[in-house]
Amino acid sequence: MTGPINLLELEDLARAKLAQNAFDYYVSGAHDEITLRNNRSAFDRIEFLYRVLVDVSERSMATTVLGHEISMPVVLAPTAFHRMACPDGELATARAASNAKTLMILSSLSNTRVEEVCVAGDGPVFFQQYIYKDRGATKALMERAHAAGAEALVITVDAPKLGSRERDVRNRFHLPEGLSVENMVAEGYGEVAAPPNDSGLSAYFASLIDPSFSWKDLDWLRSVTPLPIVLKGLVREDDAKRAADSGVEGIVVSNHGGRQLDTSIATIDALPGVVDAVDGRVEVYMDGGVRRGTDVLKAIAYGARAVLIGRPILWGLAYDGEAGATLALELLRAEIDLAMTLAGTPTLADVTRDLVR
Ligand code: FNR
Ligand code: LAC
Repeated sequence: MTGPINLLELEDLARAKLAQNAFDYYVSGAHDEITLRNNRSAFDRIEFLYRVLVDVSERSMATTVLGHEISMPVVLAPTAFHRMACPDGELATARAASNAKTLMILSSLSNTRVEEVCVAGDGPVFFQQYIYKDRGATKALMERAHAAGAEALVITVDAPKLGSRERDVRNRFHLPEGLSVENMVAEGYGEVAAPPNDSGLSAYFASLIDPSFSWKDLDWLRSVTPLPIVLKGLVREDDAKRAADSGVEGIVVSNHGGRQLDTSIATIDALPGVVDAVDGRVEVYMDGGVRRGTDVLKAIAYGARAVLIGRPILWGLAYDGEAGATLALELLRAEIDLAMTLAGTPTLADVTRDLVR
């Protein structure tokens, strides 16, 4: 067989195709990258107690996210700057999500305008919004996303500043010539250029993103958008309860793929407590280190409705554009299907917590 047979191989193939500045930005975690590694190794410590003699001749992994039907419990995490990976950038990503009949979360820091991305495929798009100090510009972008057809807003709550990815500091990370934060060009916030001794994106966050955004601002958020709201990036049970109390529709247990506070808890370890804390009041998703079908099953067993994958989509885009990102999703789908077969769980409802320890 030629071509990658799993998501880990896809990363190796992508590395060869990417400029250093781009590969390092995509791959990095914060500081010593301990959380980055632990997101993965925590999955390895969880064991299956699989069932036998179950009729697994027919299986289904279809589910819904906020009422949207998707063919697999895997959605595309919001990641910035897809045109560093391939020329079509976020348009290729949207088409891949649509090919796989799943949902894309578009980062506000995209190299393509939200209006174009929302019509590139025919699947649902959620819009991830960073809260700028300029609340007027933030509100205007959320309104544009709504008008463009985005079905929900994902508010990332673990990045009041950017974590320190030291390779990006070393490279003085910047957007290559011709690329910008396309949604924010008109407001004058389109450029990510490098200061002398820092990552350009760290500097961008420090000057433009609002670190004062807090629980009390959720009312403001509600008042400026009719869209369902998902909070992304929490790991604590009390924060999850507070999110549910505040009336948001969903939460993503996430540590930003290990890119923010290093030595944070691995997300799969945080998941079951959060699921119990919200007690079915909001949908719970998780991300961080999901690379195998068995990882997905473990997250479902702990009560996640779906998982998000970040870097594997970027590797797919770098490897082969839309086809590569679609391949990433299909490789994972095949592994989930095999894991469901071997675990004796023909539907996601069968994937209960007693399946893991
Ligand atoms: C991210 N992530 C992210 N999150 C977000 O809310 N807005 C964003 O713009 C970005 N940008 C971004 C860029 C890159 C290169 C990466 C790797 C990640 C975090 C992302 O949504 C997700 O939480 C993690 O990527 C999940 O971990 P894995 O699947 O990459 O291990
Ligand atoms: C990152 C930001 C953009 O992780 O979320 O690089």
